Amino acid sequence: MPSIFLAEETLDPSFLPPKLVRRDPEFQRTLGRYRTAAAKGIPWHLLITGGIGSGKTAFGRRLAQELARPPGGGGKAMVPHYVNCWRRSTDRLVLLELLRSVGVYLPDKGYGVPEMLDILEQGMRKAPAQRLVVLDEVGALVRQESRLVYLLTRSGEVGLGAVSLLLIAPEDVLPFLDAASRSSFGVTHRLELPKYDAEDLREIVGYRAGLALRRGSIDPDVVEQIAELAAPTGDARFALEVLQAAATGAEEAGASRISPEHVRAVQGTLRPTFDEVKLEGLDETQLMVLLALARTLRGPETRAPTGRVRQAYAALCEGYGRRPVSRVTFWRTVRGLELEGIVKVDPARPGKPSRLGMDELPVQALTGLLEARLPSTAPVPERRR
Ligand SMILES: Nc1ncnc2c1ncn2[C@@H]1O[C@H](COP(=O)(O)OP(=O)(O)O)[C@@H](O)[C@H]1O
Ligand SMILES: [Mg+2]
Repeated sequence: MPSIFLAEETLDPSFLPPKLVRRDPEFQRTLGRYRTAAAKGIPWHLLITGGIGSGKTAFGRRLAQELARPPGGGGKAMVPHYVNCWRRSTDRLVLLELLRSVGVYLPDKGYGVPEMLDILEQGMRKAPAQRLVVLDEVGALVRQESRLVYLLTRSGEVGLGAVSLLLIAPEDVLPFLDAASRSSFGVTHRLELPKYDAEDLREIVGYRAGLALRRGSIDPDVVEQIAELAAPTGDARFALEVLQAAATGAEEAGASRISPEHVRAVQGTLRPTFDEVKLEGLDETQLMVLLALARTLRGPETRAPTGRVRQAYAALCEGYGRRPVSRVTFWRTVRGLELEGIVKVDPARPGKPSRLGMDELPVQALTGLLEARLPSTAPVPERRR
């Protein structure tokens, strides 16, 4: 039996595809802007925003790769530095990473920001170049009152040479920047990547299946099925996870091609990437209700009767040593979560109770947040069913 996978690693989130389908106009335009500036020896800055899985990271990394190549016609290649700020949300940590990219390895402690900037300046001066600094997931950094973005937008004046910036974030970060930095990101310096629609996702899944799978192991209508499944989220990462899981399922079943049934089998087990920021503002009761819903929905179900969720909630309260709220408050909490766009409520119809659903099941994130908020009470282990 021939294998379904040809190059499974190309479905890995860290794999950068050689091209981005359905993003070419934006890509060429952006490339042109940076190249024109580089040819003149001046910096140019851009902020890219877009939802989860809209291809922001892939766009930024492809751009860095492309700009590092010498363009035809006597233009200049740029030297790119990519930093993901998600886990490095202070100026010091980002600077440590930038220093590594100019070959300076400082210990984690012992240097202040001004000193590190000096060392960076020396490093950059030793190897003069048009640089592109990509700060991905920059939201976490700018919320910490970062000075770094400001300093980098003023690179010429602070002696860093021509440093162009590419900031990437799911949402607009300009409100968190000082007025001077904001002025570097006027309307022509912003790019919003729209959510992928079903047709975009069909092309993306088809293209990525072509890289990863043996020819003939997936039919166009199965590609279509996956695209339709992911379309409400517009999340390419989710679509590719479904593709990979369905391909794995088909392979394990000894099939020579992915059938619609293989896709159906995985669709209940995978969830789009959850925006954890949404959870941070919730109170204890809201978190408990959500966790109860998430646990009730585990498995292939997408909706559960409200009564069952309330039972699970009561059991959870017992486990955490908390008094459950009344039925009325429970319902009000559910409605509040619906307004936040976290929970879906199917109203009761004659003979059918109301049902609750949540498209994304962040069980781990919820458990983590709850435990952080209820430090004194260790949860009683879940009763075995
Ligand atoms: N236009 C595209 N063509 C091919 N693959 C894409 C495209 N857009 C996104 N992808 C893939 O989808 C996944 C999610 O994209 P990513 O750039 O990580 O999204 P974001 O950073 O916006 O959350 C990655 O595996 C990426 O390679
Ligand atoms: Mg990303």
